[in-house]
Amino acid sequence: MPPARFGDILNAMDIPASQQLLVLYSREQIEKRVAELGDAITRDYAGESVIMIGVLKGSAIFLADLARSVHIDCTFDFVAVSSYKKGRTTSGAVKLTKDLDEPIEGKHVIIVEDILDTGITLGYLRKIFMQHHPKSLKIAACLDKPARRIEPIEADYVGFSIPNQFVIGYGMDYAEKFRNLPDICILPPDFPL
Ligand code: IMP
Ligand code: MG
Repeated sequence: MPPARFGDILNAMDIPASQQLLVLYSREQIEKRVAELGDAITRDYAGESVIMIGVLKGSAIFLADLARSVHIDCTFDFVAVSSYKKGRTTSGAVKLTKDLDEPIEGKHVIIVEDILDTGITLGYLRKIFMQHHPKSLKIAACLDKPARRIEPIEADYVGFSIPNQFVIGYGMDYAEKFRNLPDICILPPDFPL
């Protein structure tokens, strides 16, 4: 894994230059994989309309890229949930803090999420969206951590399946920071924050 090219960003955050983030997936690798997911979605929904529902905030960058790589009639909506408390551990409880703007009844829905981790968030969202009777409901996750699963749930489109490591960048945060890193990086356990 090459050391990250983020000296300036870390500097701006007052993090010592000796600290290095390791790139797990580079922007080039992400771009290639998102294009493949976009092709798969384009094939699977040929001739149909789809609503992509992004889970704020982590999925915003993935959704922006994925949506531009699908060549079908597509609209967006966003929900927000509170579940992941500040830091690296989840509370287990999920609450919807921003609901859908548009009805999804009778529509093809793809939930777009940054990471499928324990599955608690997506399990909750799938349950409440199914109550609205969409025509179909699928999940696209940029990353999947299968070893962490508590809820039995799988994504239909997965960017990369990863081991149990805490990652940041490409929309994903640690205490709201690092979302703007263009690569997906590993946050070392002893990182000074
Ligand atoms: P789940 O409900 O446990 O599946 O949690 C999913 C959410 O936890 C994701 O949408 C992320 O916001 C957050 N999350 C899980 N793992 C990581 C990580 O490695 N880095 C940043 N956020 C994470
Ligand atoms: Mg999230």
